[in-house]
Amino acid sequence: MFPLSRNRRLRTNESIRSIVRETSLSTSDFMFPMFIAEGSNFIAEIPSMPGIYRRSLDLTIKEVKELWSIGIKAINIYVKVSDSLKDNTGKEAWNKDGLMQKSIRAIKDAVPGMIIMPDVALDPYSIYGHDGIIHKGQIVNDATNDALTLMSLSHADAGADFVAPSDMMDGRVLAIRRALEQNGHHNVGIMSYSAKYASSFYGPFRDALDSAPVDLQDVPKDKKTYQMDYANRIEAIKEALDDVEEGADIVMVKPGIAYLDIVREVKNAVNVPVAVFQVSGEYAMVKAASERGWLDHDKIMMEQLMCIKRAGANLISTYFAKEAAILMNK
Ligand code: PBG
Repeated sequence: MFPLSRNRRLRTNESIRSIVRETSLSTSDFMFPMFIAEGSNFIAEIPSMPGIYRRSLDLTIKEVKELWSIGIKAINIYVKVSDSLKDNTGKEAWNKDGLMQKSIRAIKDAVPGMIIMPDVALDPYSIYGHDGIIHKGQIVNDATNDALTLMSLSHADAGADFVAPSDMMDGRVLAIRRALEQNGHHNVGIMSYSAKYASSFYGPFRDALDSAPVDLQDVPKDKKTYQMDYANRIEAIKEALDDVEEGADIVMVKPGIAYLDIVREVKNAVNVPVAVFQVSGEYAMVKAASERGWLDHDKIMMEQLMCIKRAGANLISTYFAKEAAILMNK
């Protein structure tokens, strides 16, 4: 009770504030999402994501070496394949000589310590821009799981440390875990995008991979039959618990900043590490506002990352990883 208790005492100066600070950030909290393109010596900035690039594999390897040198320990990788390789089954996704599989092998070879977490979902390989196979206008769950399992095995064979299913099919974690076990990949982990919402914050990512759902008759216009309704909370917890039961080593909540209530609830419900994906649209908003001089870029970046961690994230997948690491190493 005042004046015995004065809450401002613990805020008197930076030294005091630092000894009572509850949350800290380190570069090993971050995962960096990277977009890989065909070709060589190719780099193109993604217009809606200033500072983020699609790079060919040779330039990606250079970048991964740099990330490693500044303390980044994990990358999430996504590939952009040409339209001629896309179909409804997504079968290029498990081509052992596909761009993803080649990239995993080459990055592992160049920077063996870097944890590689390839994305597992069919959308970059689907002519329809959906994460699953379409039959009679519906995204079919179990046939998609078979495809995701083949895809995951091909990633593990190539040397991935984790596979990261981002598709939101039911039962895919169990199917993938079983297949990994049966094929001797006991130590390949699963980071499941467990509570992934149908969010408009993914727009810039879909520009980066040219992977938005196409506008055709008999193709669902959005991903709402598999990604979650952003009005809901209970199913986020159920999704995370189901995934842990099915063998997920890490569960993820996505997007980040607008979903920190979910992060905390999932954190309290599970006994595995929780990852948060601060997605493309969140990144784009900070870049756009700070380019206009409306926000202080670095301060907003660090505040958001710290708040995501405070909410319960053990790991943060963020397009700010490199910039934040450089700032933190200063
Ligand atoms: C694809 C996938 C998406 C993201 C990660 N994996 C897009 C989507 O579900 O449409 C979004 C990431 C971002 O916006 O940064 N399965």
